[in-house]
Amino acid sequence: MGHPIEPIRVNWRTLNSKQHVQSGTITEHLKRYGIRTFSSDEYWYWAGKRMGRSKAAKVDKLREPVVEGQRDDPASLRRFYDFIADPEVYGPVTSQQADDVAQALRAITSVVDGRTRILDLGCSIGHMTTWLALQDPDRQVTGVDISPRMVREAARHATMFGIRNTQFVQGDLNEFVPEGPFDAVIDAATLQYVDDLVGVLIRLREQMAPNGILVSVPQLGRARDAMSFLAALKYADFGVRSFSFVYASGLGRNVARPCIVAGVGGETIHVDLTREFETAKEVLASGPIRTMSEIDTGEP
Ligand SMILES: C[S@@+](CC[C@H](N)C(=O)[O-])C[C@H]1O[C@@H](n2cnc3c(N)ncnc32)[C@H](O)[C@@H]1O
Repeated sequence: MGHPIEPIRVNWRTLNSKQHVQSGTITEHLKRYGIRTFSSDEYWYWAGKRMGRSKAAKVDKLREPVVEGQRDDPASLRRFYDFIADPEVYGPVTSQQADDVAQALRAITSVVDGRTRILDLGCSIGHMTTWLALQDPDRQVTGVDISPRMVREAARHATMFGIRNTQFVQGDLNEFVPEGPFDAVIDAATLQYVDDLVGVLIRLREQMAPNGILVSVPQLGRARDAMSFLAALKYADFGVRSFSFVYASGLGRNVARPCIVAGVGGETIHVDLTREFETAKEVLASGPIRTMSEIDTGEP
């Protein structure tokens, strides 16, 4: 955590003039997708009001099988994601974890710097896909999602913002991976839900460019879950190049999510997961985490 964190800004000068998104921090970008950071219970009032009572009740019902890190039956997962793709629902639901999303996006942005062909796994309505596309007009960023409605919303948002270096594909990663080669594949809280992680990783490996990397920020809060994730990577012949944590805060809770960078084959670093998770726990206990919106607005 020690070093100062600078806001990341879009290089507007190099953007095509047709791209009419106006401003450039991660916080502002997510806001365009209805994702806002709240530090207080005000969130519940705002989210309830935005969604309305019946949509909020339906989200709660559909959310039950989609608990953290659990792989449940694909049909209920798909129903949940199709429903929350509704623009009135996506923002309020995701805002509950706005800082997780923002901090993961910040970490991913710096890891993929200089890489041009990118695949965003589980792109939802495309908030990460378009952010990465905006960082470099020479980039081509592909988003893939199981939910047809998410993909439609992603394409609609990209068009609305005049962002042309993205494309969105509907597909279930358990059966299909878009054609590469990709210099970077990013995974924010998606691979944790697939049924056959090793199978998906093997298919992904085949689409990686030489020296391509997989950057994964799963919501895995326990060493033993991360252990299975690393074992799957190893089985699929991905070598872990680095392991760190992304820290986030929001609505009275601080979280640490692993950030794993892996490449095809080659050396795997040894990760002492028990120690890593203990250290993360100490960091979380040691004081408040600066939220991405504080970092973006330069608040001390
Ligand atoms: C928790 S959301 C993460 C969204 C985004 N990556 C983020 O971090 O803000 C998971 C996304 O993955 C998609 N998804 C879940 N299982 C999938 C699968 N088997 N194939 C493709 N997409 C999937 C969901 O539809 C959803 O949009």
